[in-house]
Amino acid sequence: MSRLLFPDTFKWGAATSAYQIEGAWNEDGRGPSIWDYFTRKPGCIEDGSSGDIACDHYHRWQDDIALMKDLGLQTYRFSIAWSRIMPDGRNSINQAGLDFYSRLVDMLLEQNIQPFATLYHWDLPQALQDTGGWPDRSTAEAFVTYADIVSRHLGDRVKQWITHNEPWCISFLGYQKGSKAPGMQDWTAALAASHHVLLSHGWAVPVIRQNSPQAEVGITLNFNPAVPASPSVADRDAARQHDGYFNRWFLDPLYGRQYPADMITTYTEADYLPTDHIPFIQDGDFSAIAVPTDFLGVNYYNRIIVRDESLPEQQNLPRTNFLAPKDEWTDMGWEVYPQGLYELLMRLHFEYQPGKLYITENGASYGDAPNGDKQIHDLRRTNYLRNHFIAAHQAIESGVPLAGYFVWSLMDNFEWEQGYTQRFGIVWVDYTTQERILKNSAIWYRNVITTNTVDTN
Ligand code: FCB
Repeated sequence: MSRLLFPDTFKWGAATSAYQIEGAWNEDGRGPSIWDYFTRKPGCIEDGSSGDIACDHYHRWQDDIALMKDLGLQTYRFSIAWSRIMPDGRNSINQAGLDFYSRLVDMLLEQNIQPFATLYHWDLPQALQDTGGWPDRSTAEAFVTYADIVSRHLGDRVKQWITHNEPWCISFLGYQKGSKAPGMQDWTAALAASHHVLLSHGWAVPVIRQNSPQAEVGITLNFNPAVPASPSVADRDAARQHDGYFNRWFLDPLYGRQYPADMITTYTEADYLPTDHIPFIQDGDFSAIAVPTDFLGVNYYNRIIVRDESLPEQQNLPRTNFLAPKDEWTDMGWEVYPQGLYELLMRLHFEYQPGKLYITENGASYGDAPNGDKQIHDLRRTNYLRNHFIAAHQAIESGVPLAGYFVWSLMDNFEWEQGYTQRFGIVWVDYTTQERILKNSAIWYRNVITTNTVDTN
């Protein structure tokens, strides 16, 4: 066994998001969000549950910070619920909401845990959905007001800001596939949503900088590296297109290249966009979106093997899906492929050159439950994390400016349309008693943090 040492300045953390852990959905002036509505629609959530109570973190935040301290976390990524701060999304300010996050931040700092705040992790105030949601440009304007209010109140203490979590999920899962709130299925709306999410980021960055001097500001994207299922032209083209849809559609405009031309062609040919003039793009939008940032947040879980479904199988191509055996997939049905993290980081470094990167999410869902001794032997999660840490280390050795790593997630929580059927936490949550129990992976992670090393066995 050997040990890989991380740079002295490297930050180890864990991540959560507001709707997934807070509960207290109707307390202290919080307004309804699109997730409060979506979870109440029959059939939308696998186990019929919601985030009404979740991990009850809104009441247990002090104990949860004690837990983070016990784990030795150096940084904690959480998100702020827009509708706690502005119940109707754009006008009134709810002081109780600001106070909650202010107390949270103060205690994190007292415990020497760096707060890393995400402004938007999918919980749009329902009032803004009622006026059109992300497909409407006015939502981008409202986001800037919200970002201004939050950064004015917390910007003296929070020095790391993420504007958005996973614009691809916000736009395409929310408005095209409809598997996430608000559950719409409309390509044109989804494309407009993606533009307004990016635009709101671009407009908010200078406002946050103004209110929070010396802060680092960035955005988090999720990536799905696309591998063709065969060397055929058709499969390679399908992979290119998936990469354009999922990865380049967001990266290119953020790094000054506007939308990828091949995808504009695809979308106009499909009639999702008009050929002559795209109505939601206005003068100045692209320079706003390409505002310089301090870091890129990277969420990585898996890759995708892409095949052109119209290609007849009988062509007898050397077609493979390269996938690891199914018994190595996580409970989400996601392949475990740590090498993909290395490849992704190298690609981002060479093709887009962000000044700094953080892994803002990576982790695995496995249902291992406590045994009689209240021990949770989640060896598969430890192995998953170890192999991804090794891939990250390899990327650092190759010159990638990777500055930190947030495990998803600090604790089991409400996994969106999968409800409570998936457990991503390194800490077990008993949802009837709200007891938290460290899984073995958390104990292993504590050692990684203390020694700043990962073992390679
Ligand atoms: C990401 C989300 C996060 C969590 C993980 C499993 O896409 O940002 O909230 O659901 O997936």
